[in-house]
Amino acid sequence: MDWGMKNRLAQVIKSDGHCLFMPIDHGYFQGPTRRLEKPGETVEPLLPYCDALFVTRGVLRSSIDPEKSKPIILRVSGGTSVIGKDLANEGITTSMEEAIRLNVSAVGISIFVGSDYERESLLNLSKLVDEGEAYGIPVMAVTAVGKELKKRDARYLALSCRIAAELGAKIVKTYWCEDFEKVVDGCPVPVVMAGGPKTETELEVFEFVYDGIQKGAIGVNLGRNVWQNDHPVAMIRALRSIIHEDAIPKEANELFNEIKEGEA
Ligand code: 5RP
Repeated sequence: MDWGMKNRLAQVIKSDGHCLFMPIDHGYFQGPTRRLEKPGETVEPLLPYCDALFVTRGVLRSSIDPEKSKPIILRVSGGTSVIGKDLANEGITTSMEEAIRLNVSAVGISIFVGSDYERESLLNLSKLVDEGEAYGIPVMAVTAVGKELKKRDARYLALSCRIAAELGAKIVKTYWCEDFEKVVDGCPVPVVMAGGPKTETELEVFEFVYDGIQKGAIGVNLGRNVWQNDHPVAMIRALRSIIHEDAIPKEANELFNEIKEGEA
């Protein structure tokens, strides 16, 4: 692997091989998502505890201080909305030249395997990988399911992740699921887990993240279950303890409660 590619990957995947990415890209198709109405304010207290930000160029330029940022994974796919015909009909929204100008560590794109736009999204990924390879910029593929959250099973996610890796993604972001080892074992590049809609309890998040890490995921790209929580800093610090400090879910939950009580 070329020096630039290796160096950029090392900016987002830490020396222990693990990572905590903070996604704040949700507005690119769903508008001012709850508690992400002002993304700069939402993310400011979380920045010290994340390893990279997953963000669009618009929010990056308008809301993130370039002198106090974390490494950037730039979301470069989009062009659809929650009220439009089909979320899967995404294109590439941002050029590689712009990614370089913004000094990003990686770029991210969604793929929609099994959708009417499967072919387009996979060819978009391939094109982005070609451009990324030319400039030493890693591509993170997001195995998107659109509104069909029920698709999140091991068979489907293993298929999507493997295709993303085959097409050249350097990191694949997917959902945790039962039998998650089937997803990770079939994917020859590092896998990170998204959080999905906010869960009832914090412990549920700690448990699936812990399980995913035990089964080979290298970390998370997890947003709503952090910044929609009433105690987002406690939440991200507890997640960090699982990802970077080998904490078990019970210990992470205790840390969450300790920090939460300290805030009160
Ligand atoms: C939105 C995304 C998000 O980055 C991803 O879903 C992670 O966020 P969350 O943990 O809130 O699901 O790709 O399109």
